[in-house]
Amino acid sequence: MNKRVAVLPGDGIGPEEMEASLPLLQTVAAARCHQIELRKGLVGWAAYDVYRDVMPEETWDICGSSDAILFGAVGMPGRDTEVPRDMRPERRALLPIRKRFGLGVNIRPVRVYPGLESVSSIPHAFKGGEWLTFFRELLGGDYFGEKRRSPDGRAWAEDVCRYERSQIELIARAAFGEGRRTGEMVTSVDKANVLDATGEYWREVVTEVHDKEFPEVALQYALVDSLSAHLVKRPKDFRIVLASNAHGDILSDEGAAIFGSLGLMPSASLNPATGYGMYEPAAGSAPDIAGKGIANPIGMILSIALMFRHTFQDERAAQAIEQAVEKTLAKGFRTSDIASKSGGERIVGTEDMASAITDELVSEIAE
Ligand code: NAD
Ligand code: IPM
Ligand code: MN
Repeated sequence: MNKRVAVLPGDGIGPEEMEASLPLLQTVAAARCHQIELRKGLVGWAAYDVYRDVMPEETWDICGSSDAILFGAVGMPGRDTEVPRDMRPERRALLPIRKRFGLGVNIRPVRVYPGLESVSSIPHAFKGGEWLTFFRELLGGDYFGEKRRSPDGRAWAEDVCRYERSQIELIARAAFGEGRRTGEMVTSVDKANVLDATGEYWREVVTEVHDKEFPEVALQYALVDSLSAHLVKRPKDFRIVLASNAHGDILSDEGAAIFGSLGLMPSASLNPATGYGMYEPAAGSAPDIAGKGIANPIGMILSIALMFRHTFQDERAAQAIEQAVEKTLAKGFRTSDIASKSGGERIVGTEDMASAITDELVSEIAE
């Protein structure tokens, strides 16, 4: 299969994670006979320093003529005052990429790897092997509604929260599809007791999609505030969480931390109509650890697995990567964010973790 992938490392730990993980991508591609052309582009403050623009035309062109984007992270809060707020990377690069390519379906899976139970924020709740996947709507809600301020810029500000029926239907179908595939219950999150767009209306549309198209899939509703508490207390009771843009943003970070670390969670943002996808670790640029070589590359590596699954339609390659991650962790390799005090662990940096996984993969593919 011939594919073109835009490679946008971005800011903070983005470039470190990307550089460490690309050899793995190339190893899998070669082993599975895919021709993948990697096309690097600048985004975020890394682009600003060259082009005075966090999302230059050159980068748009690379993305527009590729089949998928592999993304690191953007954003450096310390530099936010250098440009007007609409010119910052989150608003001028990340959200417009999602919008231009119609990436309405965001999938964020987390799981407890055997041996990693103790790094969960609630180790007693897990035995190992549990998983949870967030289906987050990515193009609606207050993220994309009109943003305004009072004329003096001080008296008031608003972000309009609007949802189109089609946006809710799209993400609901993705979540129910996963429910059908796995036989697990879908928990749809909203604030139906107070809000309409991400509340009562959300629930109505989800119910219609369910009743008409997926009646055999188990469905429950949860108010977002109580669900966030339930997730902490009994995460094993939830497998598929369906949420609006803002609710999914918050709950998925919470889920990643409960399951171990933000550095472990991958993310796929998909346009089911065109097949276009953007793949990236769900966490951000982590300025607190950037440049130290200690970032966990697993979120990036598992995002590459999602790219093989969704863009290359190569389930075998995706599973080989996921198994290599599991085996590497089982051998005791740990970055510092997932280290426990127990013995038998080998604490490594970004590069060594990624190459240990790549080595594991080579023997996996050879088997
Ligand atoms: P963050 O996700 O960057 O970091 C939160 C915490 O998680 C930090 O303590 C960080 O060290 C840790 N962490 C994150 N990734 C890790 C990894 N791979 N390994 C080990 N630890 C890891 O969130 P933040 O600090 O609130 O945001 C920093 C910047 O990133 C902001 O400018 C924000 O807008 C941006 N951001 C970008 C994206 C993206 O590009 N997709 C996503 C989220 C946040
Ligand atoms: C994410 C990030 C982004 C979001 C920010 C950086 C715009 O937090 O991908 O989860 O809120 O969607
Ligand atoms: Mn987020």
